[in-house]
Amino acid sequence: MNRDELLSICPSLREALLRNRYDTDTLLDALGPENHAALSRSEPVPVRRASAGCGELGTLIRLFLLTDDCPAAEVAAALAPLTVDDAVSAGLLESDGDVVRAALDLRPMDIGGGNRWVVSDLDGSLRPRETPVDHVIGVGHASLSLLQATPTAPVGSLLDVGTGCGIQALHGASYADTVTATDLNVRAVDLAAVTAALNEERLELLAGSWFDPVEGRTFDQVVANPPFVVSRARVGHTYRDSGLDLDGASELMISGVADYLAPGGTAALLASWIHVEGEDWRARVASWLPAHGIDAWVVQRDVADPALYVGTWMRDGGLDTRDPATATIAEEWLDHLASADVEGIGFGFVYLRRTDAPTDLMAEDLTHGFSDPLGAEALGYFERVAWLREHDVLTARFRVDESTALERVFLPGDEGWTQVVARLHRGNGPAWQHEVDDLVASLVAGMRGGDGLVLGELIELLAAAHGVDAEELAQSAVPLVHALVRHGLVLPA
Ligand SMILES: C[S@@+](CC[C@H](N)C(=O)[O-])C[C@H]1O[C@@H](n2cnc3c(N)ncnc32)[C@H](O)[C@@H]1O
Repeated sequence: MNRDELLSICPSLREALLRNRYDTDTLLDALGPENHAALSRSEPVPVRRASAGCGELGTLIRLFLLTDDCPAAEVAAALAPLTVDDAVSAGLLESDGDVVRAALDLRPMDIGGGNRWVVSDLDGSLRPRETPVDHVIGVGHASLSLLQATPTAPVGSLLDVGTGCGIQALHGASYADTVTATDLNVRAVDLAAVTAALNEERLELLAGSWFDPVEGRTFDQVVANPPFVVSRARVGHTYRDSGLDLDGASELMISGVADYLAPGGTAALLASWIHVEGEDWRARVASWLPAHGIDAWVVQRDVADPALYVGTWMRDGGLDTRDPATATIAEEWLDHLASADVEGIGFGFVYLRRTDAPTDLMAEDLTHGFSDPLGAEALGYFERVAWLREHDVLTARFRVDESTALERVFLPGDEGWTQVVARLHRGNGPAWQHEVDDLVASLVAGMRGGDGLVLGELIELLAAAHGVDAEELAQSAVPLVHALVRHGLVLPA
C-alpha cells in the first residue's frame, strides 16, 4: 500500500463510486433485502447472482464486497476515470494476469448524515487470509455500538484515540468543527487518511501511542474504541491487544483522558474491566478515576465468563481451539485469567465529563434491551447530575417525565388479586425501572411541576396524611429522588 499514491487516486476513485452509485441505499435497492442480508452473513453466492444484473455497480460489488477475482476490462470500465494500473500501483487492487482483485476493503456505510466510504484491510471473511499484526480492522460490532452511543451535539474539537480505519473520526466530522485522530499503527493512520480523502473530510491524523501525539492539548469531546481485549501483556493484533495486562488499556484510557478534556468536555469510551473474586467491579472502575474533576457514568452492557470470553476472541482472531497448537494459547490465556482470580469480564460504555467539582461516579448495569441511542442520554445525565450538585432537592419543585409510567403487578392470592410489586418505569431512553412503595408512588404523583409544592412540603403533607415521621420519610425519599432524577424519571420543574 502506498499512502501518497492512494491519496492521489481518491478524487478519481470518488468520481467512479459516485457515478456507479456505490452507496448504501442503492446497494440495498439493487441487491434486495434478502441478498443484502446474505452479504452481512458473509454468504457470497446470492449476492454474486444478484449483482450479475447490476452493470458496473455489480462489478464494484463483486470486486470490493465479495473480494472476487474480476476481469480487468470490467473493472477498468467500472473504475474509470481511475485506471486499473494506478489502482494496482497504489495498492487498492492486486493484478493477476487478466483478473484483478481488491487489496483493500472499500465499502459504503450510512453512519448518520448520508453515505460515507470506509477503507480498511480485507477481513478474510469471504477470502481467507492471514491477519498480520498491523491489520487495520474495518467497522465491526464494537465500532457500531460506539457510533450509536456517542453524543452528537455540535462541539468545537474532537479527538478519536485509536482511529483504525477512521470510522469514529469520520462520524465526529459530522458534528465537530475539527477532528484529530491518533493511532499507534501507522498503517491505520494511512488508511484513515484515505477514508477521509475519499469522503472529502479534513481530519488531523497523528501516529503515536495513546495520548502521546496530543500531549498538552485539550478537546471538547474524546471518543475511543481502544484495543481493550483482556489478556496477557502481549500484542497479537494491534487492533485488539494493547500490550497491557488484563484491563490495563481501559484503565489507561479512563484514568488518562481527563487531562485531555477541555472544561465541560465529554468522553465516550468503550471499555472492559475484570470482575475479581471478592471485589465489586464498580470499585475497580472507581479506582481509575481522579478524585476531583470528573462526572462519570459507566454502564455495563454485558459480563462474559472467562471460557466464553477467551473462546469468542480466539474465534475473532481466526483461531480454532480444536487445533492442539492454538489450544495452548487458550489454555495459557485461561490460566492467566485464573491466576488473577478473574471471574468474569465486564464490557460497556464509559461517559466522562470534565468538571471543577469532586468526582462523581455512577456505575451500573444496563443489560436489558432498549432502542434509543445512549449518546443524548449521557449528555442529559450529566446535566441532571450537575443540577443535583447545585440544588437542595427539598427546596426544589419537580415534574414527572411524560414517558414515566407507574406499573403495578398483581398475582392471584387467597383474597383475589394481590399486588406484589410497583415500579416506576421510564418508557424511553435506557428504559430504567425503580421499585417503589405506595408512599413513594404518592410522593411522585404529587409532583406537579412549577405550580406544585416543593419536595420538602410534599413530604410533610404525605407524612401527616399517613401518620409517619416527616424527617424519617425525608431521609429515605431524598436519595430516591436523586436516583429518579439521575435516571430521568423525575425532572426539575
Ligand atoms: C478496536 S480498534 C478501533 C478502531 C476504530 N476506532 C473503530 O472504532 O472501529 C483499536 C485501534 O486502536 C489502535 N491502537 C492499538 N494500540 C494503541 C495505542 N497504544 N495507542 C493508540 N492506538 C492504539 C489499533 O491500531 C486500532 O486501530
